[in-house]
Amino acid sequence: MKTIVLYTSKTGNTAKYAEEIASQVGADVKPLKKFRWKKELKDYDCIVFGGWVMGGKIKGVDDFLSHYDEMHDAGKDIIVFAVGMSMPTPDGRKELISLNLLDLYRIRFYQVRGSFDLNALGFPYSMAMKATLNKMETDPSLTADKRALLELRERPLVYHDDEKVAKIVNIIKTIDEQRKSKTA
Ligand SMILES: Cc1cc2nc3c(=O)[nH]c(=O)nc-3n(C[C@H](O)[C@H](O)[C@H](O)COP(=O)(O)O)c2cc1C
Repeated sequence: MKTIVLYTSKTGNTAKYAEEIASQVGADVKPLKKFRWKKELKDYDCIVFGGWVMGGKIKGVDDFLSHYDEMHDAGKDIIVFAVGMSMPTPDGRKELISLNLLDLYRIRFYQVRGSFDLNALGFPYSMAMKATLNKMETDPSLTADKRALLELRERPLVYHDDEKVAKIVNIIKTIDEQRKSKTA
């Protein structure tokens, strides 16, 4: 089975996850923007897409899923993973599915936690984020969870989700086994 991992990434976390997953299953990997759908899709059986989360939206997922019919009709297996700074939870997963309309498609979906570094963002994201955090601080009813986010102004959040990488790698290997047993 041939697999490709496509991704969007603003500060490198999603790119790193994509590279890691690809290297563990012997897949190709490239930014979504560089994938030539017409020319390259036929070369792959399993298409993985990883996108970074911004305000609940998975960057690039609309573009990726605009090719859903092409992938589905050609019998590809489709995996999507979203990288955000939030701790993955069942509620958070539901919210991502709902905000990104993922339940309209037959795909496997994983939520992966990534790092967050305000200083790596660059303009205008860093400005917008600082403004949001400064505004949050003035809210008297701020929950403990949200208060913890204020610390992001002082130091970056560093997180690497090895467990989720293993899970995605495993599912790709399982799909590979299933495809082999179908053609055997
Ligand atoms: C403007 C902005 C909005 C963000 N919104 C969210 C969000 O809604 N949920 C979340 O979990 N993470 C959010 N993040 C955090 C990023 O998704 C996280 O840092 C991720 O690791 C970035 O991936 P990348 O390094 O591949 O760009 C946001 C980051 C920025 C800059």
